[in-house]
Amino acid sequence: MLITPQLSGNIARNCHPIGCQQYLQQQAAYIAQQGKINGAKKVLILGASSGFGLASRLALSIAGGADTIGVSFERGPSERGIGSAGWYNNIYFRELAEKQGLTAKNFIGDAFSPQMRDQVINYIKQHFGGQVDLVIYSLATGKRTTPSGQWQSVLKTTDEPLHGFSINLETEQLEAQSVALANAAEVEATTKVMGGDEWRNWIDALQQAKVLAEGCNTIAYSYIGPERTAAVYRDGTIGRAKQHLHATATELDAQLTKHLNGHAYACVCKALVTKASVYIPVMSPYIALLYQVMKEQGNHEECIEQAYRLFSQHLYPVDGQVKLDKLRQIRIDDYELSPQVQQQIDQRYASISPANFKQLTDFAGYKSAFLRLNGFAVEGVDYQQNLDINALSKLQP
Ligand code: NAI
Repeated sequence: MLITPQLSGNIARNCHPIGCQQYLQQQAAYIAQQGKINGAKKVLILGASSGFGLASRLALSIAGGADTIGVSFERGPSERGIGSAGWYNNIYFRELAEKQGLTAKNFIGDAFSPQMRDQVINYIKQHFGGQVDLVIYSLATGKRTTPSGQWQSVLKTTDEPLHGFSINLETEQLEAQSVALANAAEVEATTKVMGGDEWRNWIDALQQAKVLAEGCNTIAYSYIGPERTAAVYRDGTIGRAKQHLHATATELDAQLTKHLNGHAYACVCKALVTKASVYIPVMSPYIALLYQVMKEQGNHEECIEQAYRLFSQHLYPVDGQVKLDKLRQIRIDDYELSPQVQQQIDQRYASISPANFKQLTDFAGYKSAFLRLNGFAVEGVDYQQNLDINALSKLQP
C-alpha cells in the first residue's frame, strides 16, 4: 500500500510510518553528533510522542543516557486508518532507545486521568528503579476530562475581536480569519485545560507516592512571543492559561525546594510548527515569516535543536548553574525575540498578502515541516515503496 498525505485544513488525516521512523532517526543522529548532556537519568515525559516532548526524550536519552517513561494520547492502526504519527514515534523511539541499552516505556492514554497517574507510579516503583529525577510537562490538547469536570479550551482574544490571516495547509491559501472575544467561562475553561492544574496534580501524586528523587526537577513548556502576536497569544485565552502555568511553576518550585531540594521551571520556547501550533488562529503568517528570517540569519531551530540547547546550556550546563531570567523562567525563545529577528519581521510583515505570502514567507519550509511531523517529505524515504500494513499493525508501543 502507498500512502500519500491527506490534509483537512490544518489537520493531518494520516501519516507515513516509515517516514516517521526515518525522521526520528535523523533527529537522533543530530543529537548523537552533539556533546553529552550531564543531566537527569530517569525521566518522565507527559506528552512524549511529538513536538517538544519527543525532542526532549531524544535529547535526554541519546546525549544524556536517560531511561524514559513517555505518556501520550495516540491511536494505532485500525479499520479507520493507519493511526497517528505519535503512535509510530513511540514505537520507533522505544526500538532506538532499547538498541542503546536504555529503557523507554510508553503509556498510551489520557494523562488527565487519575488511573494513568496510578499506572505510571506503579511502573516507577516496580520497574523503573523507584524514582524519577526529571518530570517534563509537554501536553497540548483542546480538552480535559477529570472525575470533577470536563473542559474545552478555546483560542480566542480577551480584549477585543481580531481580524487577520491564517495559512490553510490543505489549500495552500492565506485565508482571512476572525478571532472572537472569549467570555469569562471560556477563559476559565482554557486555563483548566492548558494551565498548570494537571502539572500540579502529577507532581503532588508523584511526591506523595515518594517516587520523586532528591533534587528532582520539573519543567513545563510555554510560549510568550512578541508584541505582534500578543492579541491572540500572550493576551489571548491561551496566554492566560500560560500565566497560570507560570504561577504554578513558582508554587511547585517552593514545594519541591522545601521537600526535595528540587526545582520547577516554566521553559519558554520559540514558535514552531507542531501538530498543536498550526491550530492557533492568525499565528501562521508570523511563524512562516519567522522561519524565513531565522533561516536567513542562520539561527533557525526546530524542536530538536531547541531541546538540545535547553538541556545542554540551560538546565544542565557545564557550570551547574541553571540559566534563568528575572522571573525564574528558562528562556530558549531568545533568538526568536532578538531585535535583529523582530526588526526584520516588523519590516516585512505588513507586506504579506494572500497573493504573495508564498514568496514573502518561508511557506515551503512551514508546510514541509508540518508534513515531516507526519512522516511525509522526509529526505531519504522512498514513498513509492509499498508498506506492509499487516506487519505495521503488529507493532506495539
Ligand atoms: P504536540 O501536539 O506536538 O504534542 C503534544 C503531546 O501531548 C503529544 O505527545 C500528545 O500525544 C500529548 N497529549 C495530548 N493530549 C493528551 C492527553 N489527554 N493525554 C496524554 N497525552 C496527551 O505539541 P507541542 O507543540 O510540542 O506542545 C507541547 C507544549 O509546548 C505545549 O504546552 C505548548 O504550548 C508548548 N509550546 C509549543 C510551542 C510551539 O510553537 N509549538 C512554542 C512554545 C511552547
